Amino acid sequence: MVQVTFTDMKGKQIEVDVEEGTTIMQAAFWNGVEGIVAECGGSATCATCHIYVDETFLDKVPPPSPEEEDMLDFVAAERRPCSRLGCQIVLDSALSGIHLHIPERQQ
Ligand code: FES
Repeated sequence: MVQVTFTDMKGKQIEVDVEEGTTIMQAAFWNGVEGIVAECGGSATCATCHIYVDETFLDKVPPPSPEEEDMLDFVAAERRPCSRLGCQIVLDSALSGIHLHIPERQQ
């Protein structure tokens, strides 16, 4: 299992445990974390699964693909160096304990 902590837009922390192979978007969506819309279902075409990766884990997540980089230009909230699409990061044991922040809006 992979432990994931989300801080939502109201500052509330939600901790979930998910199977390895789950994406960050799925971990949020399936556990009712508010603020992840995931309109496209995970095909990297909507940018409504935007998350901010906590700085402590930035060097542990794989870099974005060129396609993800392009889509990050379309996020609704401020794009930051730690911005990622939640559907494009697959969780594994090396990422257990990861902390993610939900932007204030997705659309
Ligand atoms: S769910 Fe649409 S881009 Fe991630």
